Amino acid sequence: MRFEPFTDAALADPYPQYAALRVADPVHWSEKLRAWVLFRYDDVVAALKDDVRFSADRRRASRPSRAGADAAPAAALRTVASDPPDGLAVRALLNAALVPRVRAVGPRIDAIVAELLAELAGRHEVDLVADFAHALPIRVIAELLDVPEPERDRFQALSRTIARGMDRLYGSDDVSSGLREIGAYFLELVGTRADAGGDDLVRQLLDAEHHGDRLAPLEVVATCTALVFGGNETTVNLIANGMLALLRHPAELARLRDDPSLVPSAVEELVRYDTPPQFVSRVVATRCEVADKVLEVGDSMLLGIGPANRDPATFAEPDQLNVSRAPNPHVGFGLGTHFCPGAQLARMEARVAVSTLLSRFPCLTLAGEPVWRRTMILRGLEHLPVRLH
Ligand code: HEM
Repeated sequence: MRFEPFTDAALADPYPQYAALRVADPVHWSEKLRAWVLFRYDDVVAALKDDVRFSADRRRASRPSRAGADAAPAAALRTVASDPPDGLAVRALLNAALVPRVRAVGPRIDAIVAELLAELAGRHEVDLVADFAHALPIRVIAELLDVPEPERDRFQALSRTIARGMDRLYGSDDVSSGLREIGAYFLELVGTRADAGGDDLVRQLLDAEHHGDRLAPLEVVATCTALVFGGNETTVNLIANGMLALLRHPAELARLRDDPSLVPSAVEELVRYDTPPQFVSRVVATRCEVADKVLEVGDSMLLGIGPANRDPATFAEPDQLNVSRAPNPHVGFGLGTHFCPGAQLARMEARVAVSTLLSRFPCLTLAGEPVWRRTMILRGLEHLPVRLH
């Protein structure tokens, strides 16, 4: 059986195909993607935890995979997508700088969501992707970095080009030129912040110290770019995929409306149920066997975190949405060294977005067929038409 992620049926619902492959060929060589694709929870978790055998540094691939994850020009993510001990200091510094900044930005998320929804309130039907979900994470990242008001439109346009390019095939021109432009923009920003006070993330990254290490200005630029890369489309997709899942499960939606204390566990369940990044990529660094397959050094791998999150060996009734699921050991934010540094921020944004949408629009319903983007890595909607009233 071959893995065919781009058929109309698979784009609308990839999970039946994952279930079949999990049984028939759980460590699957895809000639089309030129990568090993892993479908079982235990195999995915073992690979995520094993930095020695499986490298996150795509430059080590002897046969780069053709899957979209590799469209992220490696340079942009070099500081974070490297293996220990390289990148450990950067990651520690990023986490140290993000924690207080994310806490400080919390109340602004409420205000941004309120502003965005106020703009929609007079309308009967809207596209939750274009009219709401897309605007939120970009505005929040602009807030984290304290991008000055007059530059926000340009910043948001650049962020969108980059985020959208993530899932295209290698060497997309507008992504590379967008990257150059946003790199130049961040370089400028770092230059102005170096001599100024303030507590924005750029300043925090410049000042952060870990065992005597500090980030060089160019590393701060790369880190800011990685945040725009990692934090945009993923969060848009969590909100849109999540709202679609809730609208298609009215009983679960009603439970959540009746008991808002379920919002945090509901958001974890939405990450599990329709995971925004369905796959993360690795390169085999040491020849090894997984299940009964031999993986050679330099082979590309796609670890199915979306497939793992529906594995019946780990999750009872994996295809059921359950807003109070416990335990819920999903791997939607990854695991181990590369665990998503933006997870807390993404959770905050999704909690505020979902709870405010439900409380403000008690009669929210689907207004037509959702349209999926033609992507396999970053699973997300192009359009989600809803009726607000
Ligand atoms: C729903 C939202 C999000 C999801 C599901 C998500 C998921 C992930 C996953 C699975 C990884 C691990 C990749 C790997 O193992 O190779 C990751 C890494 C990363 N994420 Fe997120 N992410 C989200 C939001 C964010 C946000 C808001 C930010 C930034 C503000 C962010 C920044 C990053 C960065 C920089 C990395 C690379 C970390 C490293 O390689 O050490 N993400 N994310």
